Amino acid sequence: MRMLLQGKFWVVVLIIIGVVGANLYYFLFYSSAGANLYSIEGLPYRILLDTDVDTDDLLGLLYLLKLNRSEFNVEAITINANGWSDAGHAVNQIYDILYMMDRDDIAVGVGGNGGILENGTILPNVGGYLPLIEQGYTTAGHCRYRQANPVGRGGRLDLDANFGIRKAFLPQGRRNYNPLWQPTAQQVMIDRISAGPITVLLIGTCTNFAIFLMSNPHLMKNIKHIYIMGGGVRTKNPTGNLFTDFASNPYAESNIFGDPFAAYQVFHSGIPITLIPLDATNSIPISKNFFNTFEQSQNTYEAQYCFQSLKAARDASQLG
Ligand SMILES: *[C@@H]1O[C@H](CO)[C@@H](O)[C@H](O)[C@H]1NC(C)=O
Ligand SMILES: *[C@@H]1O[C@H](CO)[C@@H](O)[C@H](O)[C@H]1NC(C)=O
Repeated sequence: MRMLLQGKFWVVVLIIIGVVGANLYYFLFYSSAGANLYSIEGLPYRILLDTDVDTDDLLGLLYLLKLNRSEFNVEAITINANGWSDAGHAVNQIYDILYMMDRDDIAVGVGGNGGILENGTILPNVGGYLPLIEQGYTTAGHCRYRQANPVGRGGRLDLDANFGIRKAFLPQGRRNYNPLWQPTAQQVMIDRISAGPITVLLIGTCTNFAIFLMSNPHLMKNIKHIYIMGGGVRTKNPTGNLFTDFASNPYAESNIFGDPFAAYQVFHSGIPITLIPLDATNSIPISKNFFNTFEQSQNTYEAQYCFQSLKAARDASQLG
């Protein structure tokens, strides 16, 4: 952290633990690119995180929240509900984590499938207000992308409830998902990105952010850098991580596969991007040794929540 103050490097180590079928992987997120573009006066780095609220993302979020807030300040979390968790559950999960971390100040917005009509009209606020299944433009239910996600032994509820650990473990604060009042992902993005230079982390599908870029090109100048967890570049076979669809598509990576058009939009935005592909995550697997060591050193509530989540995900993947 000292190095940060010297303005030499910007190194964010965001450890995200991904649940990939039977494989768990560690995800190392780092960059020194563009470090000197940020002046010391520019601190803290304002961060907007877009997540699908899978277990790995919860661990990444906790890691981010543990950083020195005067240096790295998560200001907003937007949720895409077209990949993994469903809208209401995902919002509550994030609210509970933020409450535990005493960060009820962080704005939370939710978006769903995102919609672009056949005639090219972009529907900016899709998602959040209704269950996906009730959205007129939804692809849920028959979407070949989303169907690649496995449902847990408890059905979608396992994904939505983080295997029940959320309610069993996390304290509940005052914020709750209310479909009529919940800000949309687009509202939150417009609000926070309008406020000044910001760094965007995309760790689910790129849907929300792609819709933002297409609808608000004048705000692109405020986005300093985009970090995307997605894709695979030079991985050896087997390369991809499509849970249930691995046999028929061994190459695809879930976050890109979940919304290829959105990924295309983001990649072609012209904003500097650092991609953290499967290559990086595969290089730091969660080994038995790591797991056992972690089990012995749960000194904080955050660590306990992470360990329990990891254990539940592991048990589910072994039994499922
Ligand atoms: C957090 O960062 C600020 C600003 O760089 C610094 O003054 C403060 O000492 C840091 N706090 C801790 C606990 O490291
Ligand atoms: C596109 O289609 C939608 C839904 O049918 C319609 O409401 C909208 O007016 C159309 N837009 C244009 C530009 O034709």
